[in-house]
Amino acid sequence: MLEIDKFKKIIIANWKLNGSIPYLNEYIENIQFDKSKDNNNCLVVCPPSTLIPYIKTKKFFIGSQDCSSFKEGAYTGEISCKMLKEIGCDFVIIGHSERRSIFKEHHKSIFDKCTNAINNKLIPILCIGENGQQRKENLHKEVLMDQLSKSLPKNIDIENIIIAYEPVWSIGTGLVPDQNQISEIHDFIKQEVLRSNQVRVIYGGSVKAANYKKILEIQNVDGLLVGGASLNLDEFNQIIKF
Ligand code: PGA
Repeated sequence: MLEIDKFKKIIIANWKLNGSIPYLNEYIENIQFDKSKDNNNCLVVCPPSTLIPYIKTKKFFIGSQDCSSFKEGAYTGEISCKMLKEIGCDFVIIGHSERRSIFKEHHKSIFDKCTNAINNKLIPILCIGENGQQRKENLHKEVLMDQLSKSLPKNIDIENIIIAYEPVWSIGTGLVPDQNQISEIHDFIKQEVLRSNQVRVIYGGSVKAANYKKILEIQNVDGLLVGGASLNLDEFNQIIKF
């Protein structure tokens, strides 16, 4: 398993259901990061799975946007962690809020996905976050605690996972919590829930070139999960200056 504790910051591009082979080739050619030259920081690109075998570069690490909760067998349409590892993935996003809300994913399958990822030496990027209503009702900490306690396998090496705090009300909306709010939640996850300073907690939700620096500067923010802005290479090249 890749050792992520050596990295100062981790930035992850989530392309969602976007991209094509020509777009990927252009992206690889023009991306202004090369992990052979900067091994202090970690860049992970997560395109749709069909594009992954076309990534011949070693400029960045590769992640999948999802994986199966099953290992193998009669599960039409699924892609296992073993298969993702075989095509070069080191990371896998699990439990993204779009999967939870649109595809009705629940704790049990998220738990199984995390287990499969770890067993196949993939780093799970476990996404958690409250929705707008839960934040308004001041239930956000309870929600996060519940998501973490039900979807994280027990007895795992906490240094080998990434938690992505992504408030659902912030994803794709342009709304971003203020620095104190982000810091409070990252502290809460590290100190109160997981009781570890080692665990990497990254922030996601409307990260742009205009706001990334202020977020990345927050002391307990270990990186960023970037959706929309990762598809605009002029903008993303600003963000991956770290
Ligand atoms: P966004 O998406 O950066 O477009 O808000 C983030 C995500 O969904 O991971």
